[in-house]
Amino acid sequence: MHEEVQAVYGIIGNPVSHSLSPVMHNTAFKALEVNAVYKLFPLEKIELEDFFESMRDENSPIFGLNVTVPYKEDVIPYLDVLTPLAQKLGAVNTIMVNHERKLIGYNTDAPGFIAHLKELGFNTEGKRIAILGAGGSCRAILGTLCMIPERPESIKIYNRTESRLQSLIQDLGERIDLSNVEPVLNVEDLNIELADLLINTTSVGLKAEDPILIPEDMLHSSLTVYDLIYRPKETTLLRMARKVGAKTANGLNMLYYQGVLSLQHWANIELSDDIKIQMKKAIERELSNDRK
Ligand code: ATR
Repeated sequence: MHEEVQAVYGIIGNPVSHSLSPVMHNTAFKALEVNAVYKLFPLEKIELEDFFESMRDENSPIFGLNVTVPYKEDVIPYLDVLTPLAQKLGAVNTIMVNHERKLIGYNTDAPGFIAHLKELGFNTEGKRIAILGAGGSCRAILGTLCMIPERPESIKIYNRTESRLQSLIQDLGERIDLSNVEPVLNVEDLNIELADLLINTTSVGLKAEDPILIPEDMLHSSLTVYDLIYRPKETTLLRMARKVGAKTANGLNMLYYQGVLSLQHWANIELSDDIKIQMKKAIERELSNDRK
């Protein structure tokens, strides 16, 4: 008997073991009754080229990918087409293989982040925002904050590697109005004490032994602190923020919103509320199983 080949989806990155995307998408596949599986693909940078080459093979079972740290920019040269948003941001977190096995790059991080900010009731118009980082996730966050109609008053941004921040500003600035954006050379100049929103887009906090980027005394109760990291569910930064009475949010719901958008691209359907709820419950359940 001929068994239909199972379609494979997955996430590439390094590290990827913390990712909740497999449980989210495998839950959706089961609910949709499709013969597909979502896997983790931990890859070294040197393996990217061969990986993408093999995806173009007509016998490859892979039909879609998510991309996480640190490859959201690195994957671009291997793709055939970028959506206008991914092109503008210079970052891709979702890849679809079309019927000609051409690789299409999307950015669903940016709309996912905005959807979560809306859910939190945070209106960015006229607000002062401080951002940590200058990587692939940061491109989506900074770019989208500069494109939405609710324009922030100011966005100050700091990154450990100054040259990477400078090239991010230069590159994004060619396509997006960054006139309210100021790169700074140290965290003190982020003026967090005057800010409304602090966003961590770095990978600092994923591991327990990671450094602390912001001294506790810069945080305050009229601040909202948003950490893109969702595992651990409360990073050291979020714990410090909670202690001083700041509002806090981790990246779990951004993961959820971007995941819904990714799956809608892959499947070319609008997901029903029922499927979306199952996806959300699956990641919440998985996270609640983690030890504190
Ligand atoms: P992503 O795709 O998630 O954005 P990335 O492109 O690798 O991942 O970016 C990681 C971000 O975390 C960068 O801003 C990086 O700073 P550098 O440009 O200086 O590398 C930041 N980051 C990672 N480890 C860090 C650390 N120990 N201290 C400060 N920043 C760090």
